[in-house]
Amino acid sequence: MIGVFDSGLGGLSVLAALLKVLPKADYVYYADTAHVPYGNKSEAFITQRVLAIGDLLIDQGCTMLVAACNTATTAAVHTLRAAHPAIPVVGIEPGIKPAAQSSLTRRIAVLATEATARSQRLAGLIREYATDVEVRVVPCPGWATYVETLHLDDPALQADIRARIEPLLDQEIDRIVLGCTHYSFLKPPLTEIIGDRAQLVDVADAVARQALRLAGDIIQDSGRLRLCASANPERLHAALPHLHLDQIAKRIDDPAC
Ligand code: DGL
Repeated sequence: MIGVFDSGLGGLSVLAALLKVLPKADYVYYADTAHVPYGNKSEAFITQRVLAIGDLLIDQGCTMLVAACNTATTAAVHTLRAAHPAIPVVGIEPGIKPAAQSSLTRRIAVLATEATARSQRLAGLIREYATDVEVRVVPCPGWATYVETLHLDDPALQADIRARIEPLLDQEIDRIVLGCTHYSFLKPPLTEIIGDRAQLVDVADAVARQALRLAGDIIQDSGRLRLCASANPERLHAALPHLHLDQIAKRIDDPAC
């Protein structure tokens, strides 16, 4: 069984990608909704939550963990791996490498939570993969909360998206990395502003392929799916149609936990 977790709804975008490549695996999705958002929390706090969620998922029988959250991966994936050396742990990090490799203008941007934006790990990714490319790191405070509360069409969010994206386009940035899994659900308003002037880079499919490589026997599970949350689990189910995640809704066979 694969345990997939995030601070809230964002990681469902990764779960959707996992279901495509590992359809027969069993899944537990855990949303830490009692503590969302992670983006404005300290590294120590996020690490403590990630370790607690890892323990809980392993207690439920998970034999692989997917941190479907850039902020959690950035802060704590090393600690989580060290705590469970026998369990494969797949993380998600902003797609600096594919963006830098494919940019024609040699200018890219990363949209991320405040915690990811200021992290050493993101700085390291940029040093490693984007030395010959200009990189703008754009923290987007509040965006994950708009997604979490399903206020995707809120005019204040639309205005904030425009205010952050238009200057990037004016600077001829042609790759914009979605460095937070919640932002996958903001693709429609982002695309409306960006048009064909830049491409969004989302690495959910690459994360799913990495999980497939490490899956072993999990590939042959019975295809069960359960959604759990640290607060208001029923909100996860209710959110699925708003996020166009019918394929997840159809797969759920256990009640919320
Ligand atoms: N979905 C998360 C990420 O990928 C975190 C959003 C948040 O809780 O601030 O970074």
